[in-house]
Amino acid sequence: MVQKLSLLFLCLLLQCSLYAQPSLVPAGNKLQLMVKGKPFLIMGGETANSRATTLQSMENVWPRMKQLNLNTLIVPVYWELLEPEEGEFDFQLIDGLLAEARRFDLKLVLMWFGSWKNSMSSHVPAWVKLDQQRFPRAVSEQGVSQEIVSPFYENNLKSDLNAYSKLMSHLKQVDTFHTVVLMQVENEIGMLPSARDYSPLANRRFGEQVPQDLIDYLELHSETLNPEMKELWVRHGSRKAGSWEEVFGEGLHTDELFMAWYFARYTGQIAAAGKSLYNLPVYVNAALNRPGRLPGEYPSAGPLPHLLDVWKAGAPAIDFYAPDFYNPDFKHWNDLYVRQGNPLFIPEHVFDASVAAKALYAFGHYEALGFSPFSIEQNPEQALTPKELKLARVYALIAQLKPLLDKYRGCNKIEAVLLDKNDNNAVFRLGDYEFTASHTYNLGWEPGVTAGGEWEQASAIVIQTAENEFYYAGFGVSLTFRHLAPEKGNVGILKAESGNFRDGRWEVYQHLNGDQTHQGRHIRSFIDEMSLQRFVLYTYE
Ligand code: DGJ
Repeated sequence: MVQKLSLLFLCLLLQCSLYAQPSLVPAGNKLQLMVKGKPFLIMGGETANSRATTLQSMENVWPRMKQLNLNTLIVPVYWELLEPEEGEFDFQLIDGLLAEARRFDLKLVLMWFGSWKNSMSSHVPAWVKLDQQRFPRAVSEQGVSQEIVSPFYENNLKSDLNAYSKLMSHLKQVDTFHTVVLMQVENEIGMLPSARDYSPLANRRFGEQVPQDLIDYLELHSETLNPEMKELWVRHGSRKAGSWEEVFGEGLHTDELFMAWYFARYTGQIAAAGKSLYNLPVYVNAALNRPGRLPGEYPSAGPLPHLLDVWKAGAPAIDFYAPDFYNPDFKHWNDLYVRQGNPLFIPEHVFDASVAAKALYAFGHYEALGFSPFSIEQNPEQALTPKELKLARVYALIAQLKPLLDKYRGCNKIEAVLLDKNDNNAVFRLGDYEFTASHTYNLGWEPGVTAGGEWEQASAIVIQTAENEFYYAGFGVSLTFRHLAPEKGNVGILKAESGNFRDGRWEVYQHLNGDQTHQGRHIRSFIDEMSLQRFVLYTYE
């Protein structure tokens, strides 16, 4: 009887976790994406924009994603194809994508290409494009109508919200085993070529008082606002009422802030409507602004770091904000995005030779929810290129490390470095040890080191699993050590091994010593190697 009951209990538990909806839950000082009741890391890639418009065009992509060791593909859902005639929805494409993803054991992140895609409204259906009276456009400062639906008009919101709601209801119905783990609402929202919309309603709203909801948010969060937001508000007297220009001053920054509020309200209402039908986690991505350009010269008012407080105030249903990388300064932008507990997710990184190193760094240093090169399916018929091979190897490495990454998530036990020629060493602490990480080109032993040439980016994750025990995963990084208590003396390597995790168990491939640890002086793996190592440190006088 007891046996039968426990069997029943186990079955129920299994059932529950199979059906458990994807969600974000706290894990230590981080957030964790849970899928079917288990922590999930998105080792992803995003297709080129038009790739997922037919199943035929996707045919070669699915097996290629398996070769690259992805577990998740990020694909658009195109409003124009979902609702080609008003009120008539065609779910064939999305159902086909779901079936194929399941067949290849891949998860999906769906991007809603609705009102906006890279600022523009190119993906709205023809019946929206052709009826500009009913679906008003944004207007530039010069009075020129743009191919951008204006966020100020109810009809625009209603029709987008209705289509997105239908999509979410459909997913709730058909995706019972949760192939879709995350939703992106819209894509790289931003106003061009002016900092704000000058349509008649936008102009009317600009003359009104700053909405009370925004003022309340600023007051309630005054201690934790991002410094850019706080400084702007305080500089103009921390006013609790007034027009946009009275509260924030005159200038393009206020035009942008005003616009951000209305973009956020619109997008937030769509996200909230979708969640009320099917509560999947939702994020919004951002086109990063190029330094030195003014709002309007770059797509203005998207969820950029200096506007995140406005977005959070205006769109509480959005769970997090994600940077797209076509810019340098990877660390700088990520550091701005992880403020206020925003989890890091990189839905797009230009697919260049640096992605393997950056993926490792993102999963290690930021404990990112996921990483995804853009246009992942390049040349799906040809052999893997070096950058693709390297990404595939990094994803395989992360998959092996995942139980450790899950176990120690948010506990300050995981670190990573990203090194290149300019930034060729880094110091960090784990437990009682201080580690100095150095690009292995500094050793001068590898053929790739050339006098004036670039240094390939190197990265390694280090995880502390016991007081003196650590794992190293990466390439092109050497590690030396120091104990934080000087009286402990010098630090040496008691044991080092390369190996693999198989079914969660550590299997030694080689016992590392001699040249492989520089006779006990360091832990390392060269730039062309990619290695997983366990090492134990000790102190000596
Ligand atoms: C960023 C966008 O989000 C993508 O959809 C794509 O347009 C890339 N830029 C550039 O190809």
